[in-house]
Amino acid sequence: MQNHSGVDRIGFESKTVVITGASRGIGLEIARAFAEAGASLALISRSEEGLQRVCEGLRTQASQKCFPYPTDVRQKVEVERTIERIREDFGAIHVLVHNAGITRDGLIARMQDQAWQDVLDTNLNSAFWLTRSVSKVMIRQREGSILYISSVVGLRGNAGQSNYAASKAGLIGLGKSLAKELGSRNIRVNIVAPGFIETEMIQQLSPQQKERILANIPLRRLGRPKEIASICLFLASSWASYITGSVIQADGGLFA
Ligand SMILES: NC(=O)c1ccc[n+]([C@@H]2O[C@H](COP(=O)([O-])OP(=O)(O)OC[C@H]3O[C@@H](n4cnc5c(N)ncnc54)[C@H](OP(=O)(O)O)[C@@H]3O)[C@@H](O)[C@H]2O)c1
Repeated sequence: MQNHSGVDRIGFESKTVVITGASRGIGLEIARAFAEAGASLALISRSEEGLQRVCEGLRTQASQKCFPYPTDVRQKVEVERTIERIREDFGAIHVLVHNAGITRDGLIARMQDQAWQDVLDTNLNSAFWLTRSVSKVMIRQREGSILYISSVVGLRGNAGQSNYAASKAGLIGLGKSLAKELGSRNIRVNIVAPGFIETEMIQQLSPQQKERILANIPLRRLGRPKEIASICLFLASSWASYITGSVIQADGGLFA
């Protein structure tokens, strides 16, 4: 649908959007943003109860389809079954936002195999399993948009976060490669790299660590989950129809 200036309005009516890590934090705001734009939502996280609550809230606010698909994204078979169920339930998948992610920080000399494996499985291997399944649906449709939530840590590195940085840098390499591979099928792939955003994830930081971080952010505040959600909505929309393989950094100027 176009307005008087000939520009499409951002609308996702009749579009199915799959969002991982949608039970709270940034993923919850991404779900809200797509719901307000009229999308039908398939929400993924481990907590069925959390997803039910989110869907109930979104259905009353914006009255569209929203269904929970409790899934542990570290489990390949679970991920593949979930995507197949979503395809059967909705008939199509237009947008995938892979946002689920965790940290298990530690210095390399002391890092346990499990901390490495959990972070790589949750943040990066999941992206491979999700995208392999979703891309088959999108290729058949000849339409799709894939978004990965990476991090500035994936671009710059961070002491004590080698596992997290490797997983987030991996998402950038994966996304850029897939943009090249899938562009001819009308599938765009983009990456969002947030700085420090106010969610449960950064409540693990001490007040002193927070103070040090704030002193280095030119905008002098942490980001809000909504400020990441609006980038996702833009990138998945026709307003960004010529953008693929890009990394959009949203860090208040921290690494400008
Ligand atoms: N907050 C920041 O400052 C920041 C900065 C840069 C990038 N990011 C990235 O943004 C994304 C969202 O972060 P956030 O701050 O919103 O984190 P959060 O509040 O901790 O939420 C993480 C989400 O991921 C889900 N999740 C975790 N492990 C999962 C698994 N194995 N299977 C399925 N879902 C799983 C969680 O749900 P369940 O626990 O119910 O499974 C939850 O919905 C992450 O990828 C993070 O790395 C965050």
